[in-house]
Amino acid sequence: MKSAGGKEFTVPEPRTGSADLSADILESLETFAEIGESLHGTANATEICEQVVAVLNDRLGLQTCSIMLVDADGMLVNVAGTSPRKGKSAPRVHRSFRLGEGIAGTVAESGKAILVPDATCDERFSSGRMAPTVRSLLCLPIKGAEGPLGVLNLSHGDPGFFGTHHVTVFGTLATILGRLLAESRLAQKLAEFNRDLEQEVATRTLEIQASHAYLEQLLNSASDVILTVDWRGRVTFANPRVSVLGYNREQLLGQPFSVLCPGGTLPTPLMDAMTGTVRHHEELVLSGKDGEALNTYCSFSPLDDADGSGRGALVMIRDVSGSKRLELQVRQMEKLTAIGTLVAGIAHEINNKLVPILVYSELLQRADLPEKEVKLIQTVHKSAVNARHIMDSLLRFSRQEAPRKEVCSLNEVVQDVINMVQFRTRKQDVTLGCELDNTIPALCLDAHQIAQVVLNIVNNACDAVEGESGTVTVRTERRGDEVRITVQDNGPGIEKENLARIFDPFFTTKEVGKGTGLGLSLCYGIIQEHGGDIQVHSAPGDTRFRISLPADTRSAMSASRSDPERDHNTKAPRGRCLVADGDPTLLEVLEHALAGHHDVVPEASGSGVISRLADGGFDVLLLDLNLADMPAEEVLQWVSEHRPHMSKRIVLMTGNAEDLDRLSQNELTSGPVITKPFQLSEVHRAVAGMLMADKE
Ligand SMILES: Nc1ncnc2c1ncn2[C@@H]1O[C@H](COP(=O)(O)OP(=O)(O)O)[C@@H](O)[C@H]1O
Ligand SMILES: [Mg+2]
Repeated sequence: MKSAGGKEFTVPEPRTGSADLSADILESLETFAEIGESLHGTANATEICEQVVAVLNDRLGLQTCSIMLVDADGMLVNVAGTSPRKGKSAPRVHRSFRLGEGIAGTVAESGKAILVPDATCDERFSSGRMAPTVRSLLCLPIKGAEGPLGVLNLSHGDPGFFGTHHVTVFGTLATILGRLLAESRLAQKLAEFNRDLEQEVATRTLEIQASHAYLEQLLNSASDVILTVDWRGRVTFANPRVSVLGYNREQLLGQPFSVLCPGGTLPTPLMDAMTGTVRHHEELVLSGKDGEALNTYCSFSPLDDADGSGRGALVMIRDVSGSKRLELQVRQMEKLTAIGTLVAGIAHEINNKLVPILVYSELLQRADLPEKEVKLIQTVHKSAVNARHIMDSLLRFSRQEAPRKEVCSLNEVVQDVINMVQFRTRKQDVTLGCELDNTIPALCLDAHQIAQVVLNIVNNACDAVEGESGTVTVRTERRGDEVRITVQDNGPGIEKENLARIFDPFFTTKEVGKGTGLGLSLCYGIIQEHGGDIQVHSAPGDTRFRISLPADTRSAMSASRSDPERDHNTKAPRGRCLVADGDPTLLEVLEHALAGHHDVVPEASGSGVISRLADGGFDVLLLDLNLADMPAEEVLQWVSEHRPHMSKRIVLMTGNAEDLDRLSQNELTSGPVITKPFQLSEVHRAVAGMLMADKE
């Protein structure tokens, strides 16, 4: 038999003998082997079909061999080879059928082959649907496990070209093809599945990266330090906030947590966390990189190590040094207030007792006494003056006086103090250094109080370096919106256990008579009143007191009370003075002291004062605020209503801080106020001031 392609091809005849059968089988096997070879490594269904069609065409010389497959819509579609042409000039067609439609649709649906030996005698082709070149036809089903996959179409121009044995042989080929196609579909599904999986993995990876970045951002912007520690106590994670401890995260990773603990031992709450106990809000003092202590609140929670090697802990650290400092300040202020109340109570009594000692010892020094007795009197006077100074400090302290601020130069204030202590430092062989920052603006502060603070601190520094050839340096500097005064000395420093107590009133390590323990507590109160702060750093050979003040340049608040120290000529005209004091001793002292210069009328009660003033004839009224029979305010009220010209001629006297506050609140007088215990010169100056003002 001659193939259409011209290639010699023996079409196996029906099985009539064993020789024919073996040739038939051999031929079939060879065809299948060739198909198998050509399909090696092919997974795509179309490619498989094209290869099979190519081999069959080549082997059998069938130009009209084709394979149709069922598509997703259930239509039989030509995927390889072509259907027979209806004429030589007619185009090759790729037909498609519904299942059950035509020969191909019927074969696919029924799963049974159809053999047409001669199309011209077959009524199914009577409608002329078949190309005239086709005489015999074999259509075989390609089946899958779950239904029809398609059909294999073979046709030839000679009638009777296909016999029943072709049905068996090509049927086997169609079965193998079915398997291959099913596998190919499976492989395709697998590839699609892989693609989807890769897509999913890529999407998830992006999501994980985004959530990782978010977590990182959370950790980075946390205001607390967040650390993780492994079972050996080593830091395995640190957020950037560790900078409050002076470290960057890289420096801390791998370090034992104990580097943050003073003394180098792991804190108990951390050990507890490692054994499973959560501990929140432990107050801990941690040690920064430069050894500086940091007050913190910590929480410790158990945390399994990332590699499952054991249990470590999650540590959160909050820097509370700011609030701790505030707490200490509040505690300090409370202490000062309590002491202040106590002091105010006793100061009044002691001051009254000091007045006669001061006044009479002053008078006696001027009396004509033997030199030996004058010396004794001088000693008495000196002691009384010292006692007065102590009472002054106590009163100032108890009064917590508001600073009388005015615009001044901080450098000048400091320079004045330096000049004052130079005498002492020279004698003591102490090197006194001074570095003043010229960029400091004019400030609004109570120069007298600030000088007192600097003097106190410089004196303490000089006391500390006494006996050695020490150095004391005073510096001023501007830092942003604050100015600083630093007093540094190279003395032995302050014992650790004393550091928290040095600002306490009456805390002193100095021998009796040398220290009162009031210096620093006064300084503290004054600086607080100025809205500033005092910080101390102390180590042997390096003690620094740093005063910070706001760089406030607002104009000075004018003092409400006039200055009793105004420099008036004491050679004032003689005047008539009404002196009122509830304490008979003081009354006697005042009468005695003023009698030489003025006409003095003593009076012990408020009602007496009013009746004497009613009679008139007085130039000055010296009025104690603590009269026995009525409050001083009533007397002042009476004066302003009935003798208004006298309102400006009143000198007030008091030994009690609260009286001053009371007075300044109800503005009954603007005259000078003398605080007890006073010296005679003060009384003279005040009275003289009134009389001189009268004259002007
Ligand atoms: N520069 C310093 N060096 C060492 N100790 C100091 C220094 N300044 C203050 N102190 C300590 O603080 C204490 C309290 O000081 P302070 O309140 O001024 O009282 P006082 O000077 O009367 O003792 C001092 O007794 C001293 O122990
Ligand atoms: Mg002192």
